Amino acid sequence: MRTPDWQDLTRFAIALAGASALEILPWFRRNAKIGLKAGPVWDPVTEGDRAGERVMRKMIEEHYPDHGINGEEYGIREGRSGYTWILDPIDGTRSFVCGMPTWATLIGLNFEGKPMLGLMNQPVVGDMFYGSPEGAWLDHRGASQSIRARTGVALSAAAIGTTAPELYREGRERECFERLRKKAQLTRYGGDAYFFAVMAAGHIDIAMDAGLQAYDIAPLLPIVTGAGGVYAEWTGGDAAEGGNVITAGSQALLDEALSVMRG
Ligand code: 2AM
Ligand code: CA
Repeated sequence: MRTPDWQDLTRFAIALAGASALEILPWFRRNAKIGLKAGPVWDPVTEGDRAGERVMRKMIEEHYPDHGINGEEYGIREGRSGYTWILDPIDGTRSFVCGMPTWATLIGLNFEGKPMLGLMNQPVVGDMFYGSPEGAWLDHRGASQSIRARTGVALSAAAIGTTAPELYREGRERECFERLRKKAQLTRYGGDAYFFAVMAAGHIDIAMDAGLQAYDIAPLLPIVTGAGGVYAEWTGGDAAEGGNVITAGSQALLDEALSVMRG
């Protein structure tokens, strides 16, 4: 196989982010109608989620007709090339409907199931994080800089970001998270995808969530690894598929965290 042109693919992912932002932003802070998805918890969806994903799927189908797509709102379209775009138009819909600018659009590209390229866009703040085998970057309102995860931090000095304690549903998951939280310096909540991006940029040390879908996490992994970070699915699954995922700035911190979680 020819080496993929990551810069070309990244430019395309940035174009997807720009187009989805134009579809999503008109629905933000408008108290637009909230739809509910079926399931055990209150799970909102808006026309912003749907319109944002529709425009990205259309662009991919036109530009890369043999690539597959896995999107939160419109499901899986099989491809013929080994490449699959992973789309979450609004990660953090709960933040979105509360008017908080901490939601993000996630765009990933997997090859043969392996996350290779990833992008997280927050158009209100003007933050776009992206990563590939060539590195990881933050573009803030047009100014681009390379990002690096923080290393040399022990758990006792570490800052953890996770979306919500109620994501740790099973008793055992809850106990794992509680053991870890008690040993860390600080835990912040409510970040959705943003915590994985600011971990990659070296502002916190651990970003983790439980019960994830592939589209919640696969687009974030190339940002984490492009910045030198590491990750694990702590119940033994493949993090690219979702599940219970912990990411850290260094292997030493990840190992310390996993050992504390195991008890
Ligand atoms: P979303 O993509 O619809 O926003 C990581 O944040 C994942 O957990 C996302 O799938 C998000 O859904 C979901 N999520 C966020 N907060 C949650 C909560 N309080 N309960 C259940 N799921 C949540
Ligand atoms: Ca979503």
